[in-house]
Amino acid sequence: MTTDERQWLSWICENSDPKELEKKYNTWAETYETDVKKDWSFMPVQIAKVIESILSNKQAVILDAGAGTGLVGEALFQRGYTHLIAADLSDKMLEIAGQKQVYKALQRGNLDDPQLFTSGDQFDVIIAAGVFAYAHAGVSVLNNLFRFLKSGGLFVLTIREDYQPQMQSAFEALPWRLVIQEQYKIYDGQQIMSILGFRKN
Ligand SMILES: C[S@@+](CC[C@H](N)C(=O)[O-])C[C@H]1O[C@@H](n2cnc3c(N)ncnc32)[C@H](O)[C@@H]1O
Repeated sequence: MTTDERQWLSWICENSDPKELEKKYNTWAETYETDVKKDWSFMPVQIAKVIESILSNKQAVILDAGAGTGLVGEALFQRGYTHLIAADLSDKMLEIAGQKQVYKALQRGNLDDPQLFTSGDQFDVIIAAGVFAYAHAGVSVLNNLFRFLKSGGLFVLTIREDYQPQMQSAFEALPWRLVIQEQYKIYDGQQIMSILGFRKN
């Protein structure tokens, strides 16, 4: 695949506010999975494998934050995880996620929003795949989501090597420890993408 065939990547990572990003994902939803298939289809599967290697409780309550069309939920469901909640900015992406019938609930909203879940909502696992990225989510989303993670819970995220410096001090400031670190070459070897997993103290 040439760079021209991956024009979606620069388009979606261009500066945009949440309203604009929501519009972009609403527009993209129908063709998202086809467009990202070559570069991204391994990642939801890899995340599910990582979760399975350290979480035997298949009833764990798992938030798929920035679930998009539900690729991560689908991979987890195939491995027997059944208590999955999806949250995303984009109605259209969530609509497709809902059609997969793997989520118990779909929550539309900004991951930045402290009211996105009620204060009693606590997750055993939070996954954010493809979410901490240029023009997407940053430190405020990380800190907000962290509040909804149970003590002892697991936070698994993906991050591109060139975006990680923007997040690194926030990663180091939170009361958690790194328990998973895997690196993959992505986009025909032009970038490195990590899966990081943190256990909350
Ligand atoms: C690259 S897609 C990844 C989707 C899915 N996790 C996957 O692995 O295919 C990023 C998703 O995150 C959502 N997103 C990005 N920033 C967000 C935010 N601040 N609040 C809620 N959703 C957000 C987008 O709407 C989009 O569906």
